[in-house]
Formats: sequence, structure tokens, C-alpha cells
Amino acid sequence: MTFRDDALAGQHILISGGCGAIGLTVVKTLTDHGASLSVNDVLDPAEAKQRLDSSGIRPDRVTYIQADLTHKPEVLAYLQAARERFGPIHTALCHAGMVIATPLVDYDEAVYDRLMEVNLKAAFLMAQATARGMLADGIKGHLIFTTSWVAETPWPSIGPYSASKAAMNQLMRTFARELAGTGIRANAMAPGIVNAGMAKRQWETEPDYRARAQKAIPLGFMQPPESVADAFLFLCSPAASYMTGSVLTVDGGCSLYPMD
Ligand SMILES: NC(=O)c1ccc[n+]([C@@H]2O[C@H](COP(=O)([O-])OP(=O)(O)OC[C@H]3O[C@@H](n4cnc5c(N)ncnc54)[C@H](O)[C@@H]3O)[C@@H](O)[C@H]2O)c1
Repeated sequence: MTFRDDALAGQHILISGGCGAIGLTVVKTLTDHGASLSVNDVLDPAEAKQRLDSSGIRPDRVTYIQADLTHKPEVLAYLQAARERFGPIHTALCHAGMVIATPLVDYDEAVYDRLMEVNLKAAFLMAQATARGMLADGIKGHLIFTTSWVAETPWPSIGPYSASKAAMNQLMRTFARELAGTGIRANAMAPGIVNAGMAKRQWETEPDYRARAQKAIPLGFMQPPESVADAFLFLCSPAASYMTGSVLTVDGGCSLYPMD
């Protein structure tokens, strides 16, 4: 994508789950365009540093803060450490997530609870705490939620995941509606079947998933993670400044209709 190299200069951006497969590509793209990133994950700092370094991310534009964002004290500690490193926060990417594939009739209650905590509650806690900080700082910031095309389209064996992403879209719309008068915006970014991270793991380990996924992408190939990062670049840039309450779907057409 052709954005100027300084398109995000001066922006301090948070990203949860930023050391995951898609997260690293997003961090690389945003830092390459001038942003400072406070990257969160549950990984220990040595492992996180190794991942960030090997992704070619400029060390002066990134700081890593380990935290499990399903716990509110850890969310608050993350935001405080981020502010201490790069100052007031302009954008928060609520990006951490997990998926466990099991048919609904067999789905385990404890797994369901954990998935909802990681995908939905952590995003809520992070967005809420960030919005409070933006209000205190007088910053017209941006909350961005990573959701999915399956928020709208049922996809066998990941029902709780789909439900969590649908709930995130609605949470986002409510943040957008409640905060519009303050200038704080909220949007979501919905990828398709990405050739990285959780979808790639399923593609490589679950023959049934692979067979279905091969038929479900109208463009005919798995989504490059760079296309997800480009969508975040657009959303974080001034080019998206009139957007609030929207879901930006970048999915190769997966959501057009179920082909399974
Ligand atoms: N891969 C895909 O095809 C795809 C498609 C649509 C949406 N997404 C979404 O993109 C996001 C990233 O997915 P990915 O494929 O890169 O997966 P991934 O597993 O590589 O990355 C997820 C990251 O979140 C972190 N994480 C998990 N629990 C956490 C917690 N409690 N606190 C902080 N961090 C935590 C993990 O350690 C991991 O690094 C997720 O929200 C996912 O739902 C992925």
C-alpha cells in the first residue's frame, strides 16, 4: 500500500496479542510508517523480544509489556507502562484472540468460558481503560477491534469463536455510539482466512477444515497477513478519520455467501 513512510508519525498505538502471527505483521507495518507501538502479549519478554527482532521491527519504535488482559489489574498495568514509555495513547488495537475448534454439541464449558474471556472480556477491558485515559487526556483517539468474517457467517466447529466476534462488533458499535460526541472513534477490522496464525494452524492440522476452507475463499487463495496489516494502516491513518462504528471487512470475499 502506498502510504507515506511518516503517515503515522507521532502516534502511540497499543496492540494486544501483538506477538502472534498477524500481530507481528501489523506491528511491523505500523512502526514502518512512523508509529510507536506498545505491544502486549502473554509471552515472556525474552520470547517476545526474539519474535519482534526476527520480524525486523525497529527496536526504538516498540516496547513490549507482558500481561494477561483477561485480568483488569494487568490491563491497567499495561496501559500505565505504555504511557511511561511513549506518552498518551492515540489508538488501541484490541487484537488478542484464541480459537478452539469443536462441534457445539461437544463444546467444553471451561474452554467456552476462557475463549469468551480472551476474545471478548479482554477487548472490553482494554477498550474501556484506554477510552478512560483518552477522555482524561483530551485525546480524540481510536479503538479498533479485530473481529472476523465468521462474526456474520456460521462456520462449523467454531461457534463460540463466531459468537465472541459478533459480540465484539456490537461492543464496538456501542463504544462508537457512546463516545462519538467526545471525538473518540471505534471501528472493527474483519479478516478472512489468513495464511498465518490460527487459520494456518487449522489448515495444516485439520483435513476437514482445509477441505472446507479451500472452497470458501472466492478469490481462491488464503489471505496474506500483509493485507490485514494494510487495513490497519488505513484505519490508523488520517484517511479513516470520518469512520466510526464500521466493520472494515477484508476477506477475499469469504463473507459473500457460504460455499461449504
Ligand atoms: N488467522 C486468521 O485467519 C484470523 C482470521 C480472522 C481474525 N483473526 C483474529 O486475528 C487475531 C490474531 O490472530 P492470529 O491468527 O494472529 O493468532 P495467534 O494465535 O498467532 O495470535 C494471538 C495472540 O494473542 C495472544 N493472547 C492470547 N491470550 C491473550 C491474553 N489473555 N492476553 C494477551 N494476549 C493474549 C497469544 O499469545 C498470541 O500471541 C485474533 O483476534 C484472531 O481472532 C485471525
